[in-house]
Amino acid sequence: MKKDTQRLRVGVLGCGPIAQSAHFESCRKGRNTELYAICDRAPDLLAGMQAIHRPQVVYQEYADMLADPHVDAVVVATADAFHVPLTLQALQAGKHVLVEKPLGLTVEECQQVAAEARARGLVLQVGHNKRFDPGVAYAGAFIRQEMGEVMALKSWYRDSCYRYQMTDNLQPEMWTSAQALHPEGNPKADRRRYLLLAHASHLLDTARFLCGEITAVQARLVEKFGAYCWLIAADFADGSGGQLDLTVDVRGDWQEGFQVLGENGSVLADLYMPWYFKTAKVECYSVKDGTRRGPIGGDGHSYRLQMEGFADTILHGVPQHGAGGEDGLACVRALVAVSRSVDSGQRVALADVTGGL
Ligand SMILES: NC(=O)c1ccc[n+]([C@@H]2O[C@H](COP(=O)([O-])OP(=O)(O)OC[C@H]3O[C@@H](n4cnc5c(N)ncnc54)[C@H](O)[C@@H]3O)[C@@H](O)[C@H]2O)c1
Repeated sequence: MKKDTQRLRVGVLGCGPIAQSAHFESCRKGRNTELYAICDRAPDLLAGMQAIHRPQVVYQEYADMLADPHVDAVVVATADAFHVPLTLQALQAGKHVLVEKPLGLTVEECQQVAAEARARGLVLQVGHNKRFDPGVAYAGAFIRQEMGEVMALKSWYRDSCYRYQMTDNLQPEMWTSAQALHPEGNPKADRRRYLLLAHASHLLDTARFLCGEITAVQARLVEKFGAYCWLIAADFADGSGGQLDLTVDVRGDWQEGFQVLGENGSVLADLYMPWYFKTAKVECYSVKDGTRRGPIGGDGHSYRLQMEGFADTILHGVPQHGAGGEDGLACVRALVAVSRSVDSGQRVALADVTGGL
């Protein structure tokens, strides 16, 4: 891999599945990044990852990694419940942070961490990696620059019943440890909550990335034969409307995509399961010049592109393409609003939402 001379020295916190399948390799292969340090409380996991990924240093204690002046930025790749406290700790140590999605579990903690990053002038990015799929990025630019007014979004994210078979085939064999640090209780025990946090966070962030601020949602959940389908009607700040569908598990292949209907054109997009590292198939129809176009996008490694974008923002002041702290907060507001709307049967305005999932 060809490397830039100026590189971000990254410390990755957490040696769990997402670090093993995405972040270590992204830092190593990133054009402008270096896997400088890794940290995990579990010594066996840490030793295993050290042998495979060969960072310069390893730490069992997070505070020690944060005290290392050679660490420019930190990736927080831990369980959701730890995201905010660990991100705050890093910001307070003067480190830029890429934190996994969702940013946090409550509106208030997300407000706190977004404010902390702003006050300190540090880059805070949330791991909504879909924005870095070159097809999704292309669609976003087309919508903003050429499509004129947006009328409607339809989008869907349907995790497949074959997903774990597919990820077992595509990802490296996962290392685990009995000594890994996890939150109290089982975060997957409440399945509705877990699925919203894990998957609706992608669906809602992509909707916001394409069509702007969501102001209200009306959501319904259908549960049948052990599967879940959230049907979400969304209002956007510009008056456009959205219909979003989260389904887990669809009895079929992974299905993810969107259609955006606008004044001077429209967009149709089909995304692949991210572990194929393939660029979304996107067709942008422009009535201005009578063309239909989209990127071929040979490089669809959204996690590595996300890391490179994060580093470009820090090293060169390139405007943040990824989700910032305010985006992470807005996404969590939307998640909480969806959950409240399912419970109450009412339309829920995002501005009124407090608390968490
Ligand atoms: N963007 C995506 O596509 C995507 C996909 C999967 C998971 N995720 C997100 O990634 C996050 C992490 O998932 P995971 O399954 O890898 O997590 P995990 O809980 O299995 O692993 C986290 C690791 O961090 C370590 N750790 C936690 N707190 C620590 C501390 N204070 N000091 C030292 N070590 C500590 C633990 O020991 C553990 O090994 C989740 O938030 C999840 O939502 C994102």
